[in-house]
Amino acid sequence: MSHVPPTTTNAGAPVASDAHSLAVGSDGPIVLHDHYLVEKLAQFNRERVPERVVHAKGGGAFGTFTTTGDVSAYTRAALFQPGVSTDMLARFSSVAGENGSPDTWRDPRGFALKFYTSEGNYDLVGNNTPVFFIRDGIKFPDFIHSQKRLPGTHLRDNDMQWDFWTLSPESAHQVTWLMGDRGLPSSWRHMDGFGSHTYQWVNAAGERFWVKYHFTTQQGIDNLTADEAAQLAGSDADHHIRDLWGHIAEGDFPRWTLSVQVMPYEDAKTYRFNPFDLTKVWPHADYPLVEVGVMELNRNPDNYFAQIEQATFAPSNFVPGIAASPDKMLLARIFSYADAHRYRVGTNHAQLPVNAPHSEVHSYSKDGAARISFAGPDVPVYAPNSAGGPAADPARAAESGGWESDGAMVRAAATLHAEDDDFGQAGTLYRDVFDDAARARFLTTITGHVGGVRRDDIRERAIQYWTQVDAGLGAALRAALNGTAPVENGEPATASVPVA
Ligand code: HEM
Repeated sequence: MSHVPPTTTNAGAPVASDAHSLAVGSDGPIVLHDHYLVEKLAQFNRERVPERVVHAKGGGAFGTFTTTGDVSAYTRAALFQPGVSTDMLARFSSVAGENGSPDTWRDPRGFALKFYTSEGNYDLVGNNTPVFFIRDGIKFPDFIHSQKRLPGTHLRDNDMQWDFWTLSPESAHQVTWLMGDRGLPSSWRHMDGFGSHTYQWVNAAGERFWVKYHFTTQQGIDNLTADEAAQLAGSDADHHIRDLWGHIAEGDFPRWTLSVQVMPYEDAKTYRFNPFDLTKVWPHADYPLVEVGVMELNRNPDNYFAQIEQATFAPSNFVPGIAASPDKMLLARIFSYADAHRYRVGTNHAQLPVNAPHSEVHSYSKDGAARISFAGPDVPVYAPNSAGGPAADPARAAESGGWESDGAMVRAAATLHAEDDDFGQAGTLYRDVFDDAARARFLTTITGHVGGVRRDDIRERAIQYWTQVDAGLGAALRAALNGTAPVENGEPATASVPVA
């Protein structure tokens, strides 16, 4: 076996893990003094300027969210009280391509929302997929590197993609999703959106619930074939931006219905899947959808750069009644985005009109590059003070949620729940959700992608990976790759079909 050098920090010291963050107990929160995790995330955020390090290509529009249902039993959040309408901004994107890359490449689509609520901005930064490729944020920089470009040739590379995925089997559910028909939505209007993570809601009595968000498109799901997507990638790289802008300009406003799955707080301990594992869904039979309201996009931006490129969406922007969960991906994201924004847009990004809350701000932050707003000359700039400055209210602590946690600091996977594994839900998606025709297209797609892998050992691992999703699928893939079974012409196997 060839010699593999130890991973080190940037300062040259060997590190203990590239897979696990330092956490307070295996299910617990990650800690700020995990300087290697912080270094990986912070360094990664500084790799590129000025485009977003992921989700660089996108477009968006303003709109309104109206709460039509009554979920006040689950959350006290002002925007989700019956009848309330809230101004909002949405930005849709693709993940791996650079700014300017074609909108129709196979890739998850970003579904980022900013609600300008009466109690501050609430950002829900989700995707059009309910799950994700990994379950610990410490892997995110490595994952994205494997989906972007080779350092030498500056080309995308199937070997890297399948090497990472097959060495990270928790990716199987999301890769199955992505290689299926919904991996090529015909427009941003024709796809669903998901918060993906499990979040916490807190009601007026301080009771806590776990929730998952589902935005169901009222335009209906519609997907492109691989040929249509490839053709559009060449003929109209900005197809999705054009579609959204054009429909809103014509007064044909797209709408989505928001529903949530609600899990009682105590259920999380004994649920058959780890409810905080981002590679898993909660079957609707276990937790049915509860309707919350309707989001309508009805106003195009006046200036793309000022209002979309400079928009900063942060999973750390919560409002009273909505909080985080012990999902290690979510906890890493809560650090990462605000850090990215300070770097990409600047320390005072929250004062730009598109990012500024529509409610009053009384913070003690001051100065910094491009500072725009400030308090009056007699308002104190420190706390505590005896000059009548803003005062934090300890009585509000309960609104920001929380959970019990204790244990030794470890780098370890979360405690297993009864049905936790890497392949079960992927197999269910392939066998029970896809129909025969969708399964046939799926085989064509993965045959094209795995067919582009040059290294035999990675190809073999890919066949094993799909065999664990479904034995018949693995055998069919092996036959197709050996040329002993016919496969329809699918997507080309190389760089033009990035996935991230
Ligand atoms: C954008 C990091 C996982 C959805 C970004 C950006 C960073 C980032 C640094 C660029 C932000 C900016 O410059 O404004 C991470 C990290 C992750 C992670 C460290 C894992 C720990 C996810 C997941 C989702 C997601 C799981 C969806 C469920 C998005 C979206 C955007 C984005 C939609 C674009 C936001 C916009 O439109 O401005 N991510 N990400 N990310 N990410 Fe993630």
